[in-house]
Amino acid sequence: MCNLTLCVLLFLAASSSSSCPVHCVCETTIVNCVNQGLRSIPQPLPKDITTLNINGNDIRNLNNESFPSPLEHLTSLYVSGSQVEQLNTMVFANLPSLRFLDLSNNIIVHFSAEAFSQDNKVEVLNLSRSLYNYSYVGVFANLFKQSLPKVSHLDLSNNKLVLLPEGTFTGLLDLTVLDLRNNSLVSIMNGTFQNRALEELDLRDNALKDLPNGTLADLCLIPDLRVRLAGNPWRCDCNIEDMLIWLKRYDLVVDKLKITCSAPAGLKHVSLLQLKQYQLPCTYTGDLKGVLETSYVFLGMVLALIGVIFLLVLYLNRKGIKRWIYNIRDACRDHMEGYHYRYEINSDPRLANLSLNSDV
Ligand SMILES: *[C@@H]1O[C@H](CO)[C@@H](O)[C@H](O)[C@H]1NC(C)=O
Ligand SMILES: *[C@@H]1O[C@H](CO)[C@@H](O)[C@H](O)[C@H]1NC(C)=O
Ligand SMILES: *[C@@H]1O[C@H](CO)[C@@H](O)[C@H](O)[C@H]1NC(C)=O
Ligand SMILES: *[C@@H]1O[C@H](CO)[C@@H](O)[C@H](O)[C@H]1NC(C)=O
Ligand SMILES: *[C@@H]1O[C@H](CO)[C@@H](O)[C@H](O)[C@H]1NC(C)=O
Ligand SMILES: *[C@@H]1O[C@H](CO)[C@@H](O)[C@H](O)[C@H]1NC(C)=O
Repeated sequence: MCNLTLCVLLFLAASSSSSCPVHCVCETTIVNCVNQGLRSIPQPLPKDITTLNINGNDIRNLNNESFPSPLEHLTSLYVSGSQVEQLNTMVFANLPSLRFLDLSNNIIVHFSAEAFSQDNKVEVLNLSRSLYNYSYVGVFANLFKQSLPKVSHLDLSNNKLVLLPEGTFTGLLDLTVLDLRNNSLVSIMNGTFQNRALEELDLRDNALKDLPNGTLADLCLIPDLRVRLAGNPWRCDCNIEDMLIWLKRYDLVVDKLKITCSAPAGLKHVSLLQLKQYQLPCTYTGDLKGVLETSYVFLGMVLALIGVIFLLVLYLNRKGIKRWIYNIRDACRDHMEGYHYRYEINSDPRLANLSLNSDV
């Protein structure tokens, strides 16, 4: 038996599930809820939704209640600039068709490795400028290792990442485009890039000074790879020799003409490719110069200190020194007078008396 109010409620619930949520604009199966100050995912969403755009809201926590019922057709989800901090277990488990996920411009602290279902089909994942603690890629490490079997396009640009731990990307077997532009990567370890499907690798605007032999070898083993390396502070000394040979021999670096030296000072802004191997100086001279400079500074300080102590001793002992100087003067005078006297006597006996008188 069904009483009337319950029937009305059921009817409303059923009809609202295919109507547009409050604060959103719906166009066929595309739902837009941009910049609405939303604190959570609007509910309920239309069953046939294919794209949800909730950019520019205030959704700190995405969890298993964000998408409480299956949305079989949802393929694209935009959650950019929405203060997202936490992505918990099973967040996206009810989105079996999700292929495009934009989480850029957030402040992610925690991203569960079980956020997706095992057989998810996510292909494009945008994590540009998305970390709270920039420079700490560990937040994603387990996720990449275990949970994203189909990802082909990964955007990790603008995250201030300094290092990529070993094996960060090894689980991404289908990865074809990897954007690491504008981070702070200081070096690339052996084995970081072994993704055979990789076609585009963007390492522009990082903090790379050279690429070691192991990394050069790794990159050569990827058949269709194109790499971008401009905008790094390359140090053109003898350590970069292997990389220079590699650049000249292979064509996988598409912007190799734009690779310019940042150091040593004499080669600043010079294109690396224009240099011959014998023109690459060894850094040890640079290091030695630094050491010498510091030891000169130290020597100067010691000398200054000795000078100050000397002056201080002079000052404190000024009476004694004065006396000493007077003594010497007197001794000299006595001596000179004797000499003078004898001289005067010898030269002109008449002046002897005068000079004696004037001295007394
Ligand atoms: C959602 O997550 C919470 C805490 O993580 C858990 O207690 C709850 O059982 C989960 N609900 C479902 C439907 O999985
Ligand atoms: C990722 O997001 C940023 C900023 O929102 C955008 O500029 C970039 O093009 C996006 N990358 C991809 C692969 O969609
Ligand atoms: C960021 O992460 C690094 C490495 O784990 C840690 O040392 C540092 O304290 C963190 N910084 C903040 C602000 O959480
Ligand atoms: C590079 O990244 C920093 C944050 O890491 C950002 O502030 C800056 O605007 C980015 N530069 C470009 C050219 O995108
Ligand atoms: C790098 O490899 C080349 C040949 O592959 C070799 O000649 C060179 O000595 C190696 N350099 C270093 C520093 O190991
Ligand atoms: C990296 O690779 C080079 C050459 O392939 C090798 O000599 C070196 O030992 C490797 N380093 C590490 C840390 O595995």
